[in-house]
Amino acid sequence: MPLTAHQTEGRSRVDLFEYQARDIFEKHGVPVLGGVVATTPDEARAGAEQLGGGTVVVKAQVKTGGRGKAGGVKLAHSPEEAAEKASEILGMDIKGHTVHRVMVAAGAKIAEEYYFSVLLDRANRSYLAMASVEGGMEIEQLAVERPEALARVAVDPTVGIDAAKAAEIVEAAGFAEDVRDAVADTIQKLWTVYQAEDATLVEVNPLVRTEDGAVVALDGKVSIDENASFRHAEHAALEDKAAADPLEAKAKENDLNYVKLDGEVGIIGNGAGLVMSTLDVVAYAGEAHGGVKPANFLDIGGGASAAVMAAGLDVILNDPQVKSVFVNVFGGITACDAVANGIVQALDILGDEANKPLVVRLDGNNVEEGRRILAEANHPLVTLAETMDGGADAAAAAAHAA
Ligand SMILES: Nc1ncnc2c1ncn2[C@@H]1O[C@H](COP(=O)(O)OP(=O)(O)OP(=O)(O)O)[C@@H](O)[C@H]1O
Ligand SMILES: [Mg+2]
Repeated sequence: MPLTAHQTEGRSRVDLFEYQARDIFEKHGVPVLGGVVATTPDEARAGAEQLGGGTVVVKAQVKTGGRGKAGGVKLAHSPEEAAEKASEILGMDIKGHTVHRVMVAAGAKIAEEYYFSVLLDRANRSYLAMASVEGGMEIEQLAVERPEALARVAVDPTVGIDAAKAAEIVEAAGFAEDVRDAVADTIQKLWTVYQAEDATLVEVNPLVRTEDGAVVALDGKVSIDENASFRHAEHAALEDKAAADPLEAKAKENDLNYVKLDGEVGIIGNGAGLVMSTLDVVAYAGEAHGGVKPANFLDIGGGASAAVMAAGLDVILNDPQVKSVFVNVFGGITACDAVANGIVQALDILGDEANKPLVVRLDGNNVEEGRRILAEANHPLVTLAETMDGGADAAAAAAHAA
């Protein structure tokens, strides 16, 4: 678990599995041990054989901390035992995450466990590195009980972790003389991971010294900043599509800015500000109609074309919780008549799939023409609203009545 909640907007961050972090570490020269992913006990046995047949650690691959304590990290001394441990761990529930994969990792002979992380420190508009010579599974407790044992060093984003900064971190954390150089070197490589991969978090717990004196990253957590995905075509493969909400995945495929919420009134608007205030107005109107609430945030952006409108409506109408939809659009560069045509064509495209009442409020550029188009189309599901408050009220009433 990341020690400090590093907040990015919910949808703009991808947390990686440990095995993915391990691969990225390896790519940037961070010392790691061999690891093989397995989805069945047989694959785990083969993985252990591939690693030489010696001692391995079978590790649950779930995106939550405390796997070790939950019984999701187990030592195995033979490929046969690796298969057994895998069968125990696969299917396990760890804090609400079902284990679908394990990583069979080469077993390290650990002499000491350390902690290192670097993360985005939004509050201070900076990066923050944290390190401790007392790493391992109790790090969260350590941070609370003995914060002085966890060194915190600000990292200037324009400089990063160079040799001097690495030396400062190692000094602040009090690493022993004989591991300082190796740890400082590893920290610089972890910085390379952070920077080159556009991460918002790189955490290693534990970073260990093995009995033969090597420094190795035994666990890794990496969060990637999705806003930089245009620079990283390769990151698309890292996303856990199965775990993502299917509607959010669909919205993403269509480049829609969509967040599912818990209510019953679907919302479509153009511009984040307008959509946000629409959520407020609908939540308020809902109080008079059985407490119905907004079902989502969906900003279709500037170009409310028929295709975009159809994609947006398609996403919202496929949410079984949605009972009515409120389309609230302010015509600007895309004028209201184009939006109205978009709605009419979208309903045409969707045909029988469009089966919930739609309240439409248009305002702005060419509003009269937009209203005329909708009135003329006279679609049985569509009601026109004059004002935002009126539209919110009508949509909330329709959701409550459904
Ligand atoms: N490859 C390995 N060889 C030997 N021991 C290991 C190995 N990987 C992990 N361990 C041991 O198991 C412990 C727990 O493993 P790990 O930190 O990967 O999982 P975790 O408990 O989920 O940690 P976190 O809460 O940080 O996610 C480590 O602190 C370490 O002592
Ligand atoms: Mg760990």
